[in-house]
Amino acid sequence: MAGFSAAVVGLGYWGPNILRNVIEIDGFDSVYGCDFNESMLEKNKKKFPSMKIAKDYDDILKNKEIECVFICTPPATHYELAKKALDHNKNVMIEKPLTVDIQEAEDLIRLSEKRSLKLMVGHTFEFSPAVNKIKEIIDSRLLGDIYFILMTRINLGIHRRDVSVIWDLATHDFSILFRLIDEIPERISAVSNSFVKKGLKDVAFINMKYRSGIIANINVSWLSPKKVRETIIVGSKKMLVYDDTDNDEKIKVFDKGVDVLKDPGSFGEYQLTYRTGDIYSPVLEATEPLNAEIRHFLDCVKNGGSPITDGYSGLRVVKAVNAAEESSEKDGEVVTIK
Ligand SMILES: NC(=O)c1ccc[n+]([C@@H]2O[C@H](COP(=O)([O-])OP(=O)(O)OC[C@H]3O[C@@H](n4cnc5c(N)ncnc54)[C@H](O)[C@@H]3O)[C@@H](O)[C@H]2O)c1
Repeated sequence: MAGFSAAVVGLGYWGPNILRNVIEIDGFDSVYGCDFNESMLEKNKKKFPSMKIAKDYDDILKNKEIECVFICTPPATHYELAKKALDHNKNVMIEKPLTVDIQEAEDLIRLSEKRSLKLMVGHTFEFSPAVNKIKEIIDSRLLGDIYFILMTRINLGIHRRDVSVIWDLATHDFSILFRLIDEIPERISAVSNSFVKKGLKDVAFINMKYRSGIIANINVSWLSPKKVRETIIVGSKKMLVYDDTDNDEKIKVFDKGVDVLKDPGSFGEYQLTYRTGDIYSPVLEATEPLNAEIRHFLDCVKNGGSPITDGYSGLRVVKAVNAAEESSEKDGEVVTIK
């Protein structure tokens, strides 16, 4: 009987995390590691002795037992590797971003649908208990109407050599934002600069406006004295802070706000009262997002259903990043997300 195996392609910085989880979930007969850099293969073989070695990607493609391919190579290579895998009848999970080009993302979606194969993008935060809890809080209307969202993802490094900080870090925030708010911002405007290496943007400030009136802002940078991974959501009833660096209280809901009271004494006049109440921090499940993400992919492959972070989820992030890049090339000109 044919086996049911997986391959993890690209064992640089991020790939070993995927490999570890693919091995840990114990859903595959064999797990292959593939990298054209032999030292990466050797290093990972020592760490994960059960990993089978594939030096050449063609060996993965030709191996009919391999039904799932996890692509963890640099973003510019995602399209070619994924297209080949789909052409060889394999289900594909691609690390974020799905691709760097909109047409390429659309092409992968078309191809996966034509062949009835699963295509999923590794938007890890969409599997995070904190992000899912925030979604639950927003949907329950505990915060009231959402006014605005501020997202900050800054630290010193790690500078990528191949893509800007927008592609590297803002992909996370766009994916979180699109998961939280069931609406895509209409207009986007971004400014950025390349301070350390010419041509490689290392800081960006991105502003968005939604048709519903919500406004959002994403700040990303590889240049900061402090690591900040924070989202602030301000609603008409309550406010929420999500600090991903806080292991005990990642989410805090503040009963803070401002109430507008009509002054009965004078026509048309109003008074503002500021409300400062309790702070509440919900308990979160202790699951590793990456593990949940890979289990979900396997479940979709084995039992059917569309991945939460399917090709379309990947495509909307690719479109948003392209719009932010375009705006920042035009010094902040407003761009519409197509
Ligand atoms: N989800 C997350 O939080 C997260 C974090 C970091 C990186 N990533 C993503 O993971 C991907 C990889 O990033 P990284 O930082 O690990 O990059 P990296 O450069 O450290 O590693 C990439 C590896 O891929 C190998 N490779 C490249 N092309 C190949 C090919 N055609 N065949 C076989 N091997 C090949 C390289 O030899 C290298 O070892 C990127 O898409 C990145 O955006 C995701």
